[in-house]
Amino acid sequence: MASSSPPTTQHMPTTSAYDLWSAVYDTDGNVLQQLDDGFVDAHLPALVAALPTSTPPPTIIDLGCGTGRNTLKLAKLSGGIHVVALDNSQGMLAQLHHKLQDANVTNVRVCVQDLSSITFPDAALRSAMRQGSTATNNDEAAKAAGIISTLVLEHLPLHTFFAAIPKPAIRSREEILQVASDYGFTLDGAVGEEGVRDAAHAKELGVRAEKWIGVKMHLGMVLRMMDTGFII
Ligand SMILES: C[S@@+](CC[C@H](N)C(=O)[O-])C[C@H]1O[C@@H](n2cnc3c(N)ncnc32)[C@H](O)[C@@H]1O
Repeated sequence: MASSSPPTTQHMPTTSAYDLWSAVYDTDGNVLQQLDDGFVDAHLPALVAALPTSTPPPTIIDLGCGTGRNTLKLAKLSGGIHVVALDNSQGMLAQLHHKLQDANVTNVRVCVQDLSSITFPDAALRSAMRQGSTATNNDEAAKAAGIISTLVLEHLPLHTFFAAIPKPAIRSREEILQVASDYGFTLDGAVGEEGVRDAAHAKELGVRAEKWIGVKMHLGMVLRMMDTGFII
C-alpha cells in the first residue's frame, strides 16, 4: 500500500492569506458570509435611516471592509452618505475597486489601513475621510457618524479592535472628573453646563450658533488639587 504523507500546514500572515483568498472570497460558498448577509440585510436600513441628514453628508466607516460585500450595500442604500472603507489586504481592496467601478458607485473612498496599528487622529484615515467629503472644515470632514465591521473581530484582539474605532473627542463630565480624580483633583463647586438656549441667544452669539440651538455644548468646572489647593 502506498504511504500517503500527511498534509503540511503553511502559516502565513493574515494579510497574505486574504490577498490569496481575494479572487474567490465572494464566490466560494462561505457559510459565515451567508449568515452575515441575513443579519446585515436586516439591520443596515435602520442604521442608515438613523443617520443625520446633514450637510456635508455623514461619513460611515467600514472597518475591515474586505472585498466590500457590505460596503456596497451601505453605499447603495443611500447616495447621501460618504463611506470610507478600510482594510490592509491589497488583494481584497482590488476586488472592491473593481466592484465600485462596475457599479459606478462614487460615494466610497478606500484606504489601506492596518487596524492593529491605527492611532487617532490617523493621517491616512483622515485624508481618506476628507477626500470624499464635501465638508469645508477639516475637523467636520474627519468625523464619522457610524461604523460597520463584519467578520473582522476574529482577527484582532478585542482591545485592539475597540481602540481602532475612531471616537469623538467629546468627554462626559463623569469621565473628566474620574480622570481628574486619578490625578489628585477634586471638583470645587458645581459643573456649569451651557449651550445655545434659543433663537434670541443664537442671534447674540452669531450665525455659527444657529445650528446649535437647544444643544448643551460647554462644560465649565473648577478643579482643586486635593492636597495643595492648587486650582485649574
Ligand atoms: C472575513 S474578512 C471580512 C471582510 C468583509 N468585512 C466581509 O464581511 O466580507 C476579514 C477582513 O478583515 C481584514 N483584516 C484582518 N486583519 C486586519 C487588520 N489588522 N487591519 C485591517 N484589516 C484587517 C482582512 O484583510 C479581511 O478583508
